[in-house]
Amino acid sequence: MRSLLRENGLKWLASDVAIGWNNKNLLRCIVTSCRAVVLPRFGAAEVMEIRDDVSVPTLKPHEVLVRARAVSVNPLDTRMRAGYGRSLFQPLLPIILGRDVSGEVADVGSSVKSLRVGQEVFGALHPTAVRGTYADYVILSEDKLAPKPSSISHVEASAIPFAALTAWRALKSTARITKGQRVLVIGGGGTVGFAAVQLAVAAGCHVSTTCGDESIDRLLAAGAEQAIDYTSEDVEVAIKGHFDAALDTIGVAETERVAISLLKRGGHYMTLQGEAASLTDRYGIAVGLPLATAILLKKQIEYRYRHGIEYWWTFMRADPEGLHEIRKLSEAGKLKIPVEKILPITKVREAHEDKDRRKVIGKVVLEVD
Ligand SMILES: NC(=O)c1ccc[n+]([C@@H]2O[C@H](COP(=O)([O-])OP(=O)(O)OC[C@H]3O[C@@H](n4cnc5c(N)ncnc54)[C@H](OP(=O)(O)O)[C@@H]3O)[C@@H](O)[C@H]2O)c1
Repeated sequence: MRSLLRENGLKWLASDVAIGWNNKNLLRCIVTSCRAVVLPRFGAAEVMEIRDDVSVPTLKPHEVLVRARAVSVNPLDTRMRAGYGRSLFQPLLPIILGRDVSGEVADVGSSVKSLRVGQEVFGALHPTAVRGTYADYVILSEDKLAPKPSSISHVEASAIPFAALTAWRALKSTARITKGQRVLVIGGGGTVGFAAVQLAVAAGCHVSTTCGDESIDRLLAAGAEQAIDYTSEDVEVAIKGHFDAALDTIGVAETERVAISLLKRGGHYMTLQGEAASLTDRYGIAVGLPLATAILLKKQIEYRYRHGIEYWWTFMRADPEGLHEIRKLSEAGKLKIPVEKILPITKVREAHEDKDRRKVIGKVVLEVD
C-alpha cells in the first residue's frame, strides 16, 4: 500500500489515511479505515457500537468519499436499528446506520465530474444502503450529492436531504404538482411533512396541513394557508376538499380515509407507510414481496374505480435534479428544517433513546468531529 501511495505521490498520514497529489494534480485522500457507528445486531439503542477500525471500501468510478461533519437521525435509522427491514439487512450485519450527511469531499472516483476534493456537499443515501452515514468517512454515488447550501451550517444541511427528497418524490415526481393546485399534507409538523409544505408553497400551490398545536405558527409562517390541529379538531370538518394531491406522512387507516375523502377525482394519494418492508420482514421475501404487491395493486384498483384517485406508496429515492432544487430553495431561505438537538456522534445512543422515548420531537443531528 505504501509503495502504491509513493507511486502516486501520496503521503502516508496515519495508519488509515493518506493524502497528496495524484498524477492529474488533484488532491487525493485515501482512507482505508475509519471510525463508524456499527449495528452488530438489532435491538435497543445500546446495541450500537462505535468502532475505530471500520474498513472503507475503495471508491468505484462514480463514487465520492465524504468526510462527514454532521449526520442527522431519521425515523428510518431508529426503526432499522430495532429490526425494520431485517429480511434484507439480517444477512448483511454488521451494518452502518444513517442516511443523511453533510461534509467535505475527501476523494472522488475516476468518472466523477461535478464535484471536487475539498468542496462542501450534502446528500442522502437510499433506504436500502448498507454502509450508512454514521461514520467519519461516507461513500455516496455522485448523483446522491450536491454542493452544500453555503448559507447554512453542516448541522442544518444534514437535516434536509432525506426528508426533503422523500417529499420531492411524492409531490414532484409522483403527483407532479403545479402552480395553483391544492395540496394537503397530513403530518406537516414532522420533518418530511414540513419539507413537503415548503416544497408545495414554493411550487405555487395552495397548501393545507394537519399538525400538533405547537407547530401551527411555524407552518402558517412557511406559507400553509390552513394548519389544523389534529389533536383537537375534526380534520375532515375543518379542512374543506377538494385537493389535487395528498401526502400522508402518518399513513394509518384514519388519515388515509380522511385524505382520500378530501381529494378530487384524478387526485393523488401518497402514503409514506408502504407495507413492502414490514410484510417481507413478517413473511420473508418469497411471500412478503408478492403479498405487498398484491395489496398495493388491490388498493390502486379499488381507489381508481371507486373514487377516481391514484393511490401510491412513496419511498425516498435519490434525485439529482430534486437535490439541486432543494439546495436552491434552501439557499433562498424557502426550505428550512429546524434542528431541535445537536449531539456529538459519540452520543449516538442518547440520540436514539431521545427519539425512541419521544423526548425530542424534532430533528436530532450528530456532529462528527
Ligand atoms: N417511505 C419513505 O421512504 C419514508 C421516508 C422518510 C420518512 N418516512 C416515514 O414517514 C414518517 C414521518 O417521518 P419524519 O421524518 O417526518 O418523522 P418526524 O419528524 O418524527 O415526524 C413525525 C410527526 O408526525 C406528527 N404526527 C403524528 N401523528 C399525527 C397525526 N395523526 N396527524 C398529523 N400529524 C401527526 C407529529 O407532529 P406534531 O409534532 O405536529 O404532532 C410528529 O412530530 C415516519 O414514519 C418515517 O418512518 C418514510
